[in-house]
Amino acid sequence: MRISIGGDHAGFELKERVKTVLEQGQHRVTDMGTFGAESVDYPDYAAAVARAVSSGEADRGVLVCGTGIGMSIAANKFANVRASLCHDVETARLSRQHNDANVLAIGSRVLDPELALAVVQEWMGTTFEGGRHSRRLQKITALEGADSLPFRNN
Ligand code: RB5
Repeated sequence: MRISIGGDHAGFELKERVKTVLEQGQHRVTDMGTFGAESVDYPDYAAAVARAVSSGEADRGVLVCGTGIGMSIAANKFANVRASLCHDVETARLSRQHNDANVLAIGSRVLDPELALAVVQEWMGTTFEGGRHSRRLQKITALEGADSLPFRNN
């Protein structure tokens, strides 16, 4: 797969480790930065990765910051992007099976590095289940750009 990866200063070291693991898995990884420990603004890197996924230039994206929270908030502003903030192997698996998440956000300050790598492996290796979940994703896509929509339960 073509993977776009990015992180801020807090995520830099873990991002480098994730990149190595993905490359060992034969994925084609494009690193959008940052490339050092100097303080930067995470939305810039979230946007670079999310834009690549949104446009179809990348199949998936991986984002790393301190908590993963800011990165996931920013990435989900982009059309076609379903960024999931995952804290363990189960949320990683479910975000793929149920939500077809195409961007993974993880936090270097809240996850042990070995667990973070296990989360990435699980997320990369899990397939979307489709079925009823496809209908729900269509409803999410329909929300893109919507300021307010009437509530409908069917
Ligand atoms: C940077 O200090 C930190 O705010 C950032 O890495 C991230 O955790 C934001 O959500």
